[in-house]
Amino acid sequence: MVKKKNIVIFAYINLNYLLIEMTMMYKKTILTIAMGLTSTVVMAQEAPKLNENNIEEVLAAMTLEEKAQLLVGGGNDGFVGSGAMLGRQKKIVAGAAGITVAIPRLGIPSTVLCDGPAGVHIDALRDDTDQTFYATGFPVGTCLASTWNTELVRQVGEAIGNETLEYGCDVILGPGMNLHRSPLCGRNFEYYSEDPLLTGFMGAAMVQGIQSQGVGVSAKHFAVNSQESDRVRVDERLSQRALRELYLRGFEIMVRNGNPWTIMSSYNKINGTYAQNNKGLLTDILRDEWNFDGIVMTDWIGKRSDMPTYTEVQAGNDLMMPGYPAQVEDIITAVNEGKLDIKDIDRNVRNMLKYIVKTPRFKGYKYSNKPDLEAHAQITRQSSTEGMVLLKNDVSPASSVGEATLPISGMKMVALFGVNSYDFFSGGLGSGCVNVPYVVDMVAGLKNVGISTTPQLTKIYRNYIAYAKEKLKVDKNPEMWFLDQGQPKLDEIEITERCVQDALKEAEAAIITIGRQAGEGIDRQIEGEFNLTIEEKEMISRVSSAFHMAGKPVIVILNSGSVMETASWRDQVDAILVAWQPGEEGGNSVADVLTGKANPSGKLTMTWPLAAADHPSTKNFPQNPEVYNFSDKVLGGNMKGVNYSLHEEDIYVGYRYFDTFNKNVAYPFGFGLSYTSFDFSNVKVAKKENKIEVSVTIKNTGKVTGKEVAQVYVTAPKGDYEKPSKELKAFAKTKALAPGESQTLKMTIDTNDLASFDEANSQWKVDAGKYTFMVGASVADIKGSAALQIAESTKKANDVMAPQASLNLLRQ
Ligand code: BGC
Repeated sequence: MVKKKNIVIFAYINLNYLLIEMTMMYKKTILTIAMGLTSTVVMAQEAPKLNENNIEEVLAAMTLEEKAQLLVGGGNDGFVGSGAMLGRQKKIVAGAAGITVAIPRLGIPSTVLCDGPAGVHIDALRDDTDQTFYATGFPVGTCLASTWNTELVRQVGEAIGNETLEYGCDVILGPGMNLHRSPLCGRNFEYYSEDPLLTGFMGAAMVQGIQSQGVGVSAKHFAVNSQESDRVRVDERLSQRALRELYLRGFEIMVRNGNPWTIMSSYNKINGTYAQNNKGLLTDILRDEWNFDGIVMTDWIGKRSDMPTYTEVQAGNDLMMPGYPAQVEDIITAVNEGKLDIKDIDRNVRNMLKYIVKTPRFKGYKYSNKPDLEAHAQITRQSSTEGMVLLKNDVSPASSVGEATLPISGMKMVALFGVNSYDFFSGGLGSGCVNVPYVVDMVAGLKNVGISTTPQLTKIYRNYIAYAKEKLKVDKNPEMWFLDQGQPKLDEIEITERCVQDALKEAEAAIITIGRQAGEGIDRQIEGEFNLTIEEKEMISRVSSAFHMAGKPVIVILNSGSVMETASWRDQVDAILVAWQPGEEGGNSVADVLTGKANPSGKLTMTWPLAAADHPSTKNFPQNPEVYNFSDKVLGGNMKGVNYSLHEEDIYVGYRYFDTFNKNVAYPFGFGLSYTSFDFSNVKVAKKENKIEVSVTIKNTGKVTGKEVAQVYVTAPKGDYEKPSKELKAFAKTKALAPGESQTLKMTIDTNDLASFDEANSQWKVDAGKYTFMVGASVADIKGSAALQIAESTKKANDVMAPQASLNLLRQ
């Protein structure tokens, strides 16, 4: 697939960028000559060649131009190295998102950065060869996190890291670690959760897995990049407490436990300053407090009209991506004019050199272009199966003895409704998509377990999909570049009563798949995206009444990367399975769960509200994305909830809000059904020095083997300031427990992790008093608890990133 993204981004972001782009060609020529002259002078001397032990020597040998060049990427579409100055050269890896520049004089190679996070995003088909370069489509972030299984996520990371390596890339741009502040964010599918602890540990597991293969990650988007509308300049205005306790916390856990090679600074502003030139964020917090020692790279913006590049260098951004010659020039000029200290440049160049010596490309790794896709298909299938969440499983209308609808057994033929049954989504749109070798849809998945689908209905849908895909090629809005990256959503078709009756004759059950697609650059709308469309609702009620009249069950599969509305239609159906966007093996995983070959053990990592507007962030969240994303007028504006966002809900994001304020939800955070039942007993808590150990015994009391998750929520004593009623502080998953089998899980919490951010004194503070440790099967299903007295403790932090104006906080 052709990646035209940047051309389009720049076209709609701002006319200024276009002008900058146009002047670059001219400036590039001047700079080329300048660099040519400099290198002639320097090349007369003996230049050291980079190795792990001579970083200081190489740094000392570099010209200012070379240093500036190393801090600016080699361009989006494959200009190579200081070759960026010499004209277009062959791409190193087709379809990779970017490169760093080579400086051959000093033995510095280009390194290659490819997109993620659901797998390696590169071009599968290439002009100069018949060989294919498909990459495994792994589950999206929400699906992986729903496994609550860090070991499994680590294994997925290993497979992704291996494909990164074997396809000649040095860094994969993931994991995505932003919080689900609103169910409407277009990129929620790439992120893990509304909870920072879960996000942090999932991210850390992924980073450890990927980096165990000798390649790096770029954890993104640092930070508070929770909306896509006006994403390159929206100002996220929030309290230091919400920032520290929620939006940065996941990154902090991941940095401390995963040691990522790189982090990507996000497009947006935070309290008035771009994340990309925010010294408080990139240096004072990230490096000084968390001891991060990798490189920070910008998200793919180029030179901004309202922010000089050199201020990004000062702030601690080591690499400007994708990189334009005007940025190199900006850095050089700033040094010459005395605005930028050469020490800042040297610090960042040193970071870059330390990064480069770790890369496979520097080490001369001979990549095969042949990762083991078959082995990785097994890994993706395991993780997608374990990430699926069973929301509902009522008694089947076909059972005379009160058996649940799922698992189905002995069925030979079902009727599959919904376009996405046949055009199953493996992943989302945009940079986060993967060019997968295949997608197992519902027809294929069911066939693999011996269940066929009614032929007439299958034919109708298949023909429609072929037609709709052709039509879309002509019809689509050219500004929507992301429709070329991944599988776009096709409109649902009308299913007439006759059609339903026809299918009902042969089918033993109806399965309706409702699909949702989303991607970067655009947020989701409430109507038709979070909510079901009229056509979908009609389809559910028509199919349900016909099948129920005949005593046959109706099962709904949600093939969506993020949350949807369920309350208005769930009573009409017998079972609901959230399959997410589970990667290329999706249909097989769904079939395994439906037939009981696998027992579902996924749990929601975000609240499923009754209505999208129940989230307190809604009033500060864009409600009409199409207008906001593609209108210059609004982009230049100052509209609340679009161009700036007040985090009035503050620390009350997700369950922290619903649970504290006793609001009803459709499905709570942590919820997920199983085909078996579990008993939780012996909740104990003990403290040794600053470590708190929580333990619980979980017993499988049902009839089939299954896994369960223990979720530890903590209620803090009443201290100086308000806190959510419960916060997740630890979790663990059992092994597969046979009926009657039990396992005692032990989870450790550091006392520091009980701290809240004390804004008045810029410190983390653990209030003294009695803390209650509750072990639950969801935030709303606490099974047992134990309490512990904890002493007060504090830890100083930098007083940075404070809001510039009043925020009208929900917190008193
Ligand atoms: C996205 C990043 C992505 C980068 C490179 C940006 O537009 O926000 O997530 O890694 O492009 O493709």
